[in-house]
Amino acid sequence: MGYKVAVVGATGNVGREMLGILAERSFPADEVVALASRRSQGTECTFGDRTLKVKALEHYDFADVDICLMSAGGAVSKEWSPRIAAKGAVVIDNSSAWRMDPDVPLVVPEVNADAVAGFAKKNIIANPNCSTAQLVVALKPLHDRAKIKRVVVATYQSVSGAGKDAMDELFSQTKAVFTLDEVQTKKFSKRIAFNVIPHIDTFMEDGSTREEWKMMMETKKILDPKIKLTATCVRVPVFVGHSEAVNIEFENPITADEAREILRAAPGCLVIDKREDGGYVTPYESVGEDATYISRIREDATVDNGLSLWVVSDNLRKGAALNAIQIAETLINGKLIQAKKKAA
Ligand SMILES: NC(=O)c1ccc[n+]([C@@H]2O[C@H](COP(=O)([O-])OP(=O)(O)OC[C@H]3O[C@@H](n4cnc5c(N)ncnc54)[C@H](OP(=O)(O)O)[C@@H]3O)[C@@H](O)[C@H]2O)c1
Repeated sequence: MGYKVAVVGATGNVGREMLGILAERSFPADEVVALASRRSQGTECTFGDRTLKVKALEHYDFADVDICLMSAGGAVSKEWSPRIAAKGAVVIDNSSAWRMDPDVPLVVPEVNADAVAGFAKKNIIANPNCSTAQLVVALKPLHDRAKIKRVVVATYQSVSGAGKDAMDELFSQTKAVFTLDEVQTKKFSKRIAFNVIPHIDTFMEDGSTREEWKMMMETKKILDPKIKLTATCVRVPVFVGHSEAVNIEFENPITADEAREILRAAPGCLVIDKREDGGYVTPYESVGEDATYISRIREDATVDNGLSLWVVSDNLRKGAALNAIQIAETLINGKLIQAKKKAA
C-alpha cells in the first residue's frame, strides 16, 4: 500500500517543484493532494502527466494523510503543522517556524539522516534554509576529514528564494529598465534588477540579518555546535540557483587536492573544478539539477589549514523541495512510518 501525500503551498515556487520531484522520483504515493490558500481553490497544478485541482487548506481533513509537505510560510506552518501532526500525518516543513525547536529534527539526509528518528515527539521535521542546505552538504565530508573550526561565507542568493512574487518583481523591473518605464519596488527594499542587495530577512540587534543568523544556527544544529560561522547574505538578480563563496579554517591539515577527492566521493556533491575559463559551475547551470556543485577549490595561505570554495545549487530543489522529499524517503526506507489504512 502506498502513502497519501499532501503538498501544502502547491501553487508556490517550492510546492510546484515538490510535485515535479514526487513524480520524477516515482515516490511511493497512492494519492497526492495539492493544497494552497482559498485564493487558489479550484485552480490546477501539474503532477507528472496529470493535473491536480487545488484544494483549500482550511477546509481539508488530514485524517488519512500520511505525509504532509509544507511550504506555505512560517505563519501558516505555526498554525497548521501541529494540527496536521495531531491527525497523525508527519509534517515536513520548509519554513523557519520549527527549525530551532529542540523537539523537531532539522535534517539534510546526506549529513544527519539519523536525526529523523526524533520526529515522533511532535510529528514535525524541519527542512533547513536553502543556503544552509547546500552549504552543509559540502562541509560535512570535509568536517569528517579535517574538523572545521570556522567558516566565513558570502551568499549570492537568487530571487526565487523569496517566493514567486519576488521572481515577478525581478522580471517586471528588468522589463521596465529596457522599456524606460518606472521601476517599481514592492517585495525588495531596493531595486533588484541590475543590482545586488546585502539584506535578506529582518535585521537583528547585533547588525546581522536573520538569514545570516539562520545559516549560523542551523549549521550548528545539523553539523556540529562547535563550528563557528559568520555569513553575509546577499540577494542577486538571478532567478534560480544560490551561490556561496566559502572560506573554511580546519583544525587539521587538508590540501585542495585532498578536498577535491573527498568531495568527489561525497553524497550529493558534484565537483566541477577545472582551473580554466568556464571550468566552474554558475547558478544558471544548476537549475533543475539535484546536485550541490563545488568549484574553485583552493588553499588559503592566510590562515593555518585554510581552504576556499564556490558552492552552487538549485535553491528550490536541494534548498527546499528535494531535501524535503529525501527526508520523506528516509522515513520510508528506514521503516519509521507506515501508510495508514484508508477508508475503502
Ligand atoms: N524558495 C526557496 O528557495 C525556499 C527554500 C527553503 C525554504 N523556503 C520556504 O518555503 C516556503 C514557501 O516558499 P515559496 O518560495 O514556495 O513561496 P511562494 O512561491 O510565495 O508560495 C507560497 C505558497 O504558500 C501558499 N499559501 C500562502 N498563504 C497560505 C494560507 N493561508 N493557506 C494555505 N496556503 C497558503 C500559497 O498559496 P496561494 O498561491 O494560494 O497564495 C503558495 O502556494 C516559505 O516558508 C519559504 O521560506 C523557500
